[in-house]
Amino acid sequence: MYPIHHTFAPHVTLRYCLSVLCILLQPWTWYRETSVEQLRLAIAKDLRGDVALFSSGRDALLALLRALELTSGAEVIIQAYTCVVVPNAVQAANGSPIYADINRNSLNIDPEAVKRAITHRTRAVICQHTFGIPADTTTLRKICDEHNILLIEDCAHIIPDRKGPEGIGTVGDAMVLSFGRDKAISSISGGAAVVRDAAIASALAKEEELAINMKWYHLAKLLFYPLIYTKAKPLFGMGIGKAYLVLCKAIHMIPPVVTSAEKAGQISSPVLQKLPHALATIASSQWAQREQINDHRRNIVALYAEAFSDVHVSKDLPLQKFPLLTQHAVEIRKTLKKKNIHLDDGWAGCTICPRNVSTDAINYIPGSATQADRVGKQILSLPTHPTMTLKQAKRLIAELQRFPSLKQQ
Ligand SMILES: Cc1ncc(COP(=O)(O)O)c(C=O)c1O
Repeated sequence: MYPIHHTFAPHVTLRYCLSVLCILLQPWTWYRETSVEQLRLAIAKDLRGDVALFSSGRDALLALLRALELTSGAEVIIQAYTCVVVPNAVQAANGSPIYADINRNSLNIDPEAVKRAITHRTRAVICQHTFGIPADTTTLRKICDEHNILLIEDCAHIIPDRKGPEGIGTVGDAMVLSFGRDKAISSISGGAAVVRDAAIASALAKEEELAINMKWYHLAKLLFYPLIYTKAKPLFGMGIGKAYLVLCKAIHMIPPVVTSAEKAGQISSPVLQKLPHALATIASSQWAQREQINDHRRNIVALYAEAFSDVHVSKDLPLQKFPLLTQHAVEIRKTLKKKNIHLDDGWAGCTICPRNVSTDAINYIPGSATQADRVGKQILSLPTHPTMTLKQAKRLIAELQRFPSLKQQ
């Protein structure tokens, strides 16, 4: 039986796997520039801005923040309940991350908390559309305009299409996109920064020019990732999937999503990396299919929203994950794991994710963002990714409704 999961190559269908295999077998094409330019044009046309492409979303964010030329002590307001790579990028760009609490229903930065966090040193607010739930960009825009602060939309978890959602990708002065392994769309790794200000665009273009090519062996490992997981998934039904993945990680065939250095508040390297043609080819194809991918997510979200009707999330959103909050999240995940349902996505049991991040190193004081801390403890998120079937979603709902605490939702 195939596992229900968040992180086992969630985008990798058979077609995806075959197209990666084709790329893998033509190493002489890995660093050409054609797909990179094609992707740049497609993003620029759809999101109306100047686009810089990098090997990951975190590199794109760092490049964007460097392009702002933050002076020492400049503050960037980010939300608590975020990924450690966000404060890491702020610190690496010379800034100080200032944490604002979230709204428990939207899991997004609370505009009132942003107002309280603003000082004369604040240069930017990063709003993260957590799991694809739209942040309150209208209010944030007003606050930023009043204080002459930049608004950056972190769209790592959602990329809008023709059907919306509204308010994402249109309100910020800049946006960051991720094409990481379990993101809205995926080229295994990759990211973009989109800006609508000529001076920042020119500084950002310089950052991209200075970026180096990814080493061939690192790129090869990324290209092997879909193949490794395609093999691993059926093994989970036989109880040996985990052992196979542990082995692949031990021989360094699977690069970690967040490195130990990153968990300790560092960036993996101060030198940014370009998006290689090999990954841009996959990203271009995913970009073209994003409405289809989003529609699949919308269908699954509609099922979850009907089953758990007291969750404050609109039914027609293409969420990257569907959030439930329960006091029993840890036990539920543990029980379901025995049934080949793996709901640990790295965003559970932590306020700055993943678990075991050095909060000291990123200047987060545990307990200072009450809602974010609570959400980190109570979150149980449900997958909506392209390889999660409607049948699996129905099975997951049935399994969850066996738990008394979720039955009434
Ligand atoms: C909110 C958020 N922003 C940015 C990033 C960076 O994306 P990437 O994994 O492509 O570096 C992540 C990924 O972990 C994220 O969760």
